[in-house]
Amino acid sequence: MVFYVLTLFPEMVLQPLKFSVLGKAMENGVFRVEGINIRDFALDKHKTTDDYPYGGGQGMIMKPEPVTRAIKFLLDQDPKIWFILLTPQGISFSQSTAQRFSKFKKLALICGRYEGIDDRVRGYVNEEISIGDYVLTGGEFAALVIIDCVARLLPNALHRAESAQEESFSEELLEYPQYTRPPLFEGKGVPEVLLSGNHREIENWRRRQALLRTWVRRPDLLKRARLREEDKRYLSALEDGY
Ligand code: 6GU
Repeated sequence: MVFYVLTLFPEMVLQPLKFSVLGKAMENGVFRVEGINIRDFALDKHKTTDDYPYGGGQGMIMKPEPVTRAIKFLLDQDPKIWFILLTPQGISFSQSTAQRFSKFKKLALICGRYEGIDDRVRGYVNEEISIGDYVLTGGEFAALVIIDCVARLLPNALHRAESAQEESFSEELLEYPQYTRPPLFEGKGVPEVLLSGNHREIENWRRRQALLRTWVRRPDLLKRARLREEDKRYLSALEDGY
């Protein structure tokens, strides 16, 4: 998969992806990130990319020509590229959006900066995405969030055991608690069942812990989760005051 990132600061997006799991996945050719510097598509000799807002007001607005010329440059290479404008006014990004994006061969993420982007750019994009209800100084960190979420879903991005989990029921719930050595840390032990070697029992315990954590912290997620009959019985017991 290829991610094109249209931005005034390509290094802001490229550098952080070089580390750890995603860095390895890129080395292995699972995905590629191409920074497209919007400034390279500016028309004047000063490479101007922003200007004052019509009607007055605070801050600067990104001019439409450099961004749309960058978009056309990519569309000329491949008309199938899917263009996403990153803006706090977009639809909220979620795990299901990430699943949908992971099916594209080529995604282009357009990062706005400053106080906004000329509204006429909207006609050039396939969709608008926000990563949550707060305001960033630009779309670059949003692009990183999206690339991280989508790239880890790609075939061979993670170890086999991890990717298998992605298919299962478990991702609609919060994670069960995890432990590693030492067995005693600051007076706190590890749940006995995890040391038992009984994989059926461990599986059962983890499922219930995931349900319990979700019920306590994020009950809203339970409405959407696909639950087994046994899960429902356990949750009913919780509701009845376990
Ligand atoms: Cl995609 N961009 C900006 N600038 N702020 C945001 C955002 C995006 N998503 C949430 N806040």
